[in-house]
Amino acid sequence: MGATMTVAPEQAQAAPRDGQSALHHELTVLATVAHELRGPLTALATSSELLAEDFARLDPEQIKDMLAAMRRRALWLQGLVENLLCAATIREGRLQLNRQLLALADVVEEVEAVVGPLLEQRGQRLCVRIASLVPEIQADSRRLGQVLINLILNASKFAAPKTSIDLTISMRDGAVHVAVADRGPGVQPEQAQRLFEPYYRAPATAGGSKDGVGLGLSIVKSIVEAHGGDVGVESRRGGGARFWFSLPTVGRAASAKSHLSIVS
Ligand SMILES: Nc1ncnc2c1ncn2[C@@H]1O[C@H](COP(=O)(O)OP(=O)(O)OP(=O)(O)O)[C@@H](O)[C@H]1O
Ligand SMILES: [Mg+2]
Repeated sequence: MGATMTVAPEQAQAAPRDGQSALHHELTVLATVAHELRGPLTALATSSELLAEDFARLDPEQIKDMLAAMRRRALWLQGLVENLLCAATIREGRLQLNRQLLALADVVEEVEAVVGPLLEQRGQRLCVRIASLVPEIQADSRRLGQVLINLILNASKFAAPKTSIDLTISMRDGAVHVAVADRGPGVQPEQAQRLFEPYYRAPATAGGSKDGVGLGLSIVKSIVEAHGGDVGVESRRGGGARFWFSLPTVGRAASAKSHLSIVS
């Protein structure tokens, strides 16, 4: 409980491992990716066909609901494709950051627009708290957005419907500290370090009903480390996981926007 760990960079490239041949690993990855794409694509094709054929017979509310579901699937697919492209970039050592001075509140606002419909579907609520002293930082807003989306969607996936996910941004030891906490099953301390390895999924997850390729956290780690920060995970008092990352500051005063404490 409460054991925080930081994952060393040399642990990042883990696959293939456990005696898997490179070919077997590649085939497993391809099959997993294909499986992940097939579900939402089939649903999108079915919904669009239904809309086209039955448009005149459907009432506006039904049409609205179907379009909202299609949008959620498209957003989810976009996230998956973004992760696959980013993983390839990282693997080739080509991850480049487009750093700008930014207020994290702005990044959070953009992230909320993406994750909002997906959380809504599960009846989950994102509670955002940004401490008043958090300064602007030099960072790549798109990549940081991707980090937050991966952590929030993990929290959403592993926690029960209708629970809250807490996103807190504060200052700790002179660095910006960002944490995403949920009330899901939490993580086993002995698994914690491996979760950040590419393609690694905890045995309970890999054998269970939760979808996923196992790339999200490895991308989080690579992007955060490229910014000079650290990542970690700890158990939460009362149950659940708390994934966190830190980002160095540039010692500038906060903008008016980043003083906002948003609770949505
Ligand atoms: N919030 C969480 N609570 C419990 N376990 C988690 C949580 N987030 C991640 N994990 C564990 O860490 C593993 C790796 O997470 P990661 O985000 O890299 O992969 P994924 O979510 O399974 O797939 P992908 O992100 O590629 O869709 C998960 O499969 C799960 O076992
Ligand atoms: Mg994930």
